[in-house]
Amino acid sequence: MVFPIISRCLVLAVLLLCRFGVGWKADIRADSNRDGIVDIVGDSDLGDKYEWSDLAGAIFLANIGDTDRRCSKIALSDDSLSDEALAACNDASDDIQRSPNYMASIKTVPIPDLEDGAWGHIQVTEEISRKNVRLFRLEEGEWIITTNDYKFNASQLKEGLDLGIDARDTRRPSGWDGRAEVHFHVQNELEFQVDDVYLRVAPILTFHHLMGVSEVLTTNDDDSEVQKQFVSNLTDILNEPNPPTSLWLFNTDDIWTQDFVEPAYTSIPGPNGPITLEVMIRSSQGSRTAGRLVFEYLRQTGRGAVYSTGGTRDEIDSMGNLETIPPYSFEDKSFPAGRIIEGSHAESYPTYPHVYEYMRAQEFQDPLILDTDWLAVGHVDEIVQFLPANTQHGWALYIADPMAGINILESAKQDHGDTPAFSRENDCDDVPDLTIAELLTDKLKRDNKRFAEKLDNVLNVLQKETGIATEDVHHVPMIFTTGVCWGPDDGVTPDRNCSTKHAAALYPAVLNGVVLSDSTYLSPKPWGPVIDGTDILEEATNKVYKEVGLEVVYIDDWCSHHKGGGDVHCGTNTIRVPNQPWWNTTSLASNGETAGRNEL
Ligand SMILES: *[C@@H]1O[C@H](CO)[C@@H](O)[C@H](O)[C@H]1NC(C)=O
Ligand SMILES: *[C@@H]1O[C@H](CO)[C@@H](O)[C@H](O)[C@H]1NC(C)=O
Ligand SMILES: *[C@@H]1O[C@H](CO)[C@@H](O)[C@H](O)[C@H]1NC(C)=O
Ligand SMILES: *[C@@H]1O[C@H](CO)[C@@H](O)[C@H](O)[C@H]1NC(C)=O
Repeated sequence: MVFPIISRCLVLAVLLLCRFGVGWKADIRADSNRDGIVDIVGDSDLGDKYEWSDLAGAIFLANIGDTDRRCSKIALSDDSLSDEALAACNDASDDIQRSPNYMASIKTVPIPDLEDGAWGHIQVTEEISRKNVRLFRLEEGEWIITTNDYKFNASQLKEGLDLGIDARDTRRPSGWDGRAEVHFHVQNELEFQVDDVYLRVAPILTFHHLMGVSEVLTTNDDDSEVQKQFVSNLTDILNEPNPPTSLWLFNTDDIWTQDFVEPAYTSIPGPNGPITLEVMIRSSQGSRTAGRLVFEYLRQTGRGAVYSTGGTRDEIDSMGNLETIPPYSFEDKSFPAGRIIEGSHAESYPTYPHVYEYMRAQEFQDPLILDTDWLAVGHVDEIVQFLPANTQHGWALYIADPMAGINILESAKQDHGDTPAFSRENDCDDVPDLTIAELLTDKLKRDNKRFAEKLDNVLNVLQKETGIATEDVHHVPMIFTTGVCWGPDDGVTPDRNCSTKHAAALYPAVLNGVVLSDSTYLSPKPWGPVIDGTDILEEATNKVYKEVGLEVVYIDDWCSHHKGGGDVHCGTNTIRVPNQPWWNTTSLASNGETAGRNEL
């Protein structure tokens, strides 16, 4: 603690010298200590004025919401707009301030002694920052865009300036990294004084399962009876609790609501608590037209969207291949807003998912890559999930366990080998007509052993990276099959289509469900063998989710989703409510390792 005292003395000494020299000084301030207030009286915002780190320095928002759906309405009236043009329109795409509540505040300390003829500038000089940053001054209750050459007069400077700042874009992997240096220059006829404050645009962060659900999203396909049935059943389930969870519907025949968008958010400190803007990340799948609906319909006041071009329709770029480990801190790493996981198809596809670079550019949830190349679709949401739980980390890791699934059928086979392996009626020509004994072929067992080895590797990576204790890892009995075929419009590459090597869930994948709250989990109904009146796969599922206190609610998705190679999680999405400010560095202190970082 000695150093800050010395540096404070130095600052004071320099301040005194400056005062002595000119009689007044330039002093610009932002909320550098992130307490939600710009302090122009005390020195609380001086210490971190030149900080751009994760832990300190002023932050501001990409003000990219769509107030009153202005841009969405334009998009809807012109379907020839390119994807880029769709994404280019938002609240900050021109010079009008439509959503001042998302600006961050910048103030200058009043200079009462300034001579009448003096004047000043507020400038963002670096060209790439200038292009991406908007500065506003308040004049008679209106926010007016302020360019580098605008001259503030002496009476404005004497009173002290009250400015707002926002960004036209988020941090990007190539392009702007969100940094802005704001310069303040004051001069009279004889002399000038300058000062700076640094700000950085807040990262775009994904939601995780420790956050409550504000809205469930799914798809309303009027031409599909099975999808309508799914939506109707889902509506009933969401209406059950009091208060109900609201359901929002995309109108499209692309039923994979998980895949064309990843709901996310961005936030900064405000005087009355965090100021949060929702940001929907469209998948980088240009030919997937459902993604346009994110810009045309899902945006609204307080909710924007971003798009990062360059990916392909390949399943690797679907957002079901992006999930979030809840906050943790382990060894020298700390992820107070959680950490992203993405699956790689490394052997068959040389690059990472396209959105990897965009998420990395946010510099806060450093995506961890897991091997999903052995799966036919290849999404992380087919094999792992993170659930709220009373553990040291505050969550538990759930992972698919094919051998546990096989073992359940093996022991059922002893007395009930002739029982049908699937208990669902076959009304969409897809339910195999096999007994338990017929299902358990050597190939099925060999394949599942091979998949279990792949999953062991995934588990090792996750344990090594997060330090999650072995007792907080829960194994979900599931069985995988091979040889599943996809329709021509799906993004499954030819080598994975009808492949006898790649894995797909045989029964509706109970792990591919939705965490509705810290007490309710929505799972696809597995339709396992019914023995003595009990679906033995459902029984095993209830048991494993009960281990963290979750009650399982089932929904039938066989004809609507399972038949198409996905399940409930793939067919839905959730918008959640952040429960911790991402800049709260004390929030992880109980895990041991973060405490030291506060001293940085
Ligand atoms: C200074 O500028 C403000 C804002 O444009 C204006 O209202 C005011 O009259 C100006 N004051 C002088 C003394 O020119
Ligand atoms: C997968 O193979 C089937 C059968 O050959 C074919 O009809 C379908 O179009 C293929 N799907 C893809 C995505 O290539
Ligand atoms: C879905 O709704 C149908 C029709 O009301 C009903 O028969 C079925 O049991 C429901 N299934 C589930 C699991 O949601
Ligand atoms: C930061 O986290 C700590 C520990 O979880 C909590 O007590 C505190 O209220 C949080 N601060 C804010 C501003 O949310």
